[in-house]
Amino acid sequence: MAHLTTNTISEAVKSAGRDKATNPRLQQCVNRLVDALHGLIQELKPTEAEMIKTVEFLTELGRKDQIQILADVLGLSALVDLLNYPKVGRATPTDVEGPYYREDAPFRKSPVTLYEGDEDDPLFITGRITNHEGVPLPGAVLDVWQTNGRGLYEHQDPTQPQYNFRRRFATDAQGNYEFQTVQPGPYQLPHGGALGIFLAQLGRHPWRSAHIHVKISKDGYAPLTTQLFFRGDPYLDSDAVFSVKEELILYPIRIEDPARLRERGLDRPYSEAEFNFGLWPKELGQPAYRLAASPADLSKKKEGITVTRLYTGPDGESHFQDMDTPLTSKQTIGRLSEPIRATSIIFRETDGDYDYGWHHAPRRQYIINLEGEVEITVGDGTTRRFGTGDVILAEDQTGRGHISRAMNKRPRKSIFVTLD
Ligand code: BEZ
Ligand code: FE
Repeated sequence: MAHLTTNTISEAVKSAGRDKATNPRLQQCVNRLVDALHGLIQELKPTEAEMIKTVEFLTELGRKDQIQILADVLGLSALVDLLNYPKVGRATPTDVEGPYYREDAPFRKSPVTLYEGDEDDPLFITGRITNHEGVPLPGAVLDVWQTNGRGLYEHQDPTQPQYNFRRRFATDAQGNYEFQTVQPGPYQLPHGGALGIFLAQLGRHPWRSAHIHVKISKDGYAPLTTQLFFRGDPYLDSDAVFSVKEELILYPIRIEDPARLRERGLDRPYSEAEFNFGLWPKELGQPAYRLAASPADLSKKKEGITVTRLYTGPDGESHFQDMDTPLTSKQTIGRLSEPIRATSIIFRETDGDYDYGWHHAPRRQYIINLEGEVEITVGDGTTRRFGTGDVILAEDQTGRGHISRAMNKRPRKSIFVTLD
């Protein structure tokens, strides 16, 4: 029998059974886990009492079916989602499913209401489901679930009927959908017992930002599982499971105009929000940028600054070109580009209904996006979205130009840095 030491035990564990192993992926994962956990133990040198406490903690969570929630509060589910499903073109970003999905929600035809009985403050959510290029998809099935206004899922609340706030329905012939619901309340993850003590000792709260879960399926398209959030929710920046994505935030508008109320047959104000979903066609496969990036790729990505140039090609159409800006180290102040001579800086805000048809750049200028998103279509048919921190160099001063429009009816803040 080998005499194991703190230096040899990790290798001994990893090589145990190596010749007879039948699942290489499992073996790869477990070996990395052993490296990570042994490294942690070597570094932190836990006492035996701490080890016992850790096992008791996991045992309690396992008994209560809360291991999934532990993975969520540690950001593991959100990280897997971020690595596997970054945004591609107009395809809607995915988001974690969470533990509260129920299959076989009632299927409803239009008009769709997510709940039974009467609720205050109705909210209508409308929109269109398209492919990644904006082509409408009729007959796509939405499977939606959420809490009621008090933050309770139906299965946690004996006062709600079975499957309340859980419905399935399909898009119409134009790819449009609409449903009536109420704004869900923020809710707390289970926070009694070991999980609650754990979060409290870390100075964390158990609140999830209010959200609506949506799964969308359509033959020929990758199934989409995502969540929609609400502007103004107090937990947008501190969601307990780290799943809020800016592109998924709804901006409900309050409607009080009596004529609009009459159209809906309502005698009190209501809210409405629009959200368009984009699905990714299966036939395009898993694009490289949808695959998990290696840590090396991730660190590479963080370096440098990419500027997307909009220019007029010889065909008279605008095109995109991604350009890396060379940076040189200046020690204490970081890495700098060569100075670029500019003529002015203009701060700019556009509304949620900003929709500017074909136009070209009025002058050569950088557009530095601060907040909100813009979707730009160019003459070669490409559409791209630009969000917070993205930099565009607009140089397409001739030809047909491009189309710009606000995303998801949301205002946007940006800066023009003019060059001419
Ligand atoms: C949810 O969205 O329902 C959820 C997600 C993660 C943990 C707990 C709940
Ligand atoms: Fe949820």
